[in-house]
Amino acid sequence: MIHQEKPTIFSGVQPSGNLHLGNYLGAISRWANLQDKNQCIFCVVDYHAITIKQDPLELKKNIIETAKIYLASGIDPKKSIIFQQSQVSEHTELAWILNCVSARMSDLNKMTQYKDKAEGNENVSVGLFDYPVLMASDILLYNTDLVPTGEDQKQHVELSRTLAKRFNSQYKELFRIPEPLIERSGARIMGLDDAFKKMSKSAKSEFNYIGLLDSPEQARKKIMKAVTDTGSEIKYDKENKPAISNLLTIYSLLSKKTIKELEVDYKGRGYGDFKKDLAEVVINFLSDFQKRYNKISDKEVVSVLLKGKKKAKNIAEKKLSEVKKSLGVL
Ligand code: TYM
Repeated sequence: MIHQEKPTIFSGVQPSGNLHLGNYLGAISRWANLQDKNQCIFCVVDYHAITIKQDPLELKKNIIETAKIYLASGIDPKKSIIFQQSQVSEHTELAWILNCVSARMSDLNKMTQYKDKAEGNENVSVGLFDYPVLMASDILLYNTDLVPTGEDQKQHVELSRTLAKRFNSQYKELFRIPEPLIERSGARIMGLDDAFKKMSKSAKSEFNYIGLLDSPEQARKKIMKAVTDTGSEIKYDKENKPAISNLLTIYSLLSKKTIKELEVDYKGRGYGDFKKDLAEVVINFLSDFQKRYNKISDKEVVSVLLKGKKKAKNIAEKKLSEVKKSLGVL
């Protein structure tokens, strides 16, 4: 039995650029609050990012930018481990082992995110297909109890549970079975240009998302151009008014006002008024966020990642050597 004082939390973001309000509200903004009562580990998952073609210089810049966003969101390196995935080789080693002994083609064929990302692409990499196994390795190496993410990662966390259980029953009870931690509000922020698709870094139009590093003018323009629904009432109704419901969710999470309060505030007022105020709320948030972001130097980030790597490696090495022993390769 593995003994730990505090539950372990693990999560990560791909450094693929354009981190947006969806990433923030669905995942990163929740992490800071978890730091006191848990052992938290937050990873910049660069080997996930290369499942899709990346420009080397951009990738390098985006790795630093992602870690800086963690710090600007209140992740404290004194409390949590922050590190870069590719610097701890145990992740890819465990992924290979799980590929061979736990994961089935039929499991991966069911992954909806793979189907979405592969659609219309003739040169899909094997890595893109296998990506959920690497994600399972990230999680399982650290005896993770909880994985705080947005809704779109739930199926991947469930796969991690399946792979862990299979390994445990075939070899030895080495892996803790993780649980997804998904908040009710903000777990699926929708695109500003299409309320039926999630806000996404890889969206074709920049009017889909508000980037965490967008300027006030960009943010205002995007909010004012955001799609709305028929009718003019400001009311939360996901089925019949998906666009306004999405904007209300963003407004509520950033202003800390409840959706009910906002509905009362905007009773009898139109979409134009509502969007103008929402733009101010978003701009205020971005301005505070970017003030914190701009105070952090690249040098500081590199030092945080280096210290985090040592701590992460320590834990990962132990777990991987137990796995190797049970397989008969050590
Ligand atoms: P990624 O980089 O696509 O997204 C990072 C986090 O942001 C959440 N998210 C959203 N939440 C709400 N609304 C949206 N529109 C939205 N878009 C993205 C995601 O759910 C995620 O929490 N596979 C993962 C990264 C990963 C990981 C891990 C996560 C790799 N290993 C281990 C947890 C544990 C991914 O591609 O996230």
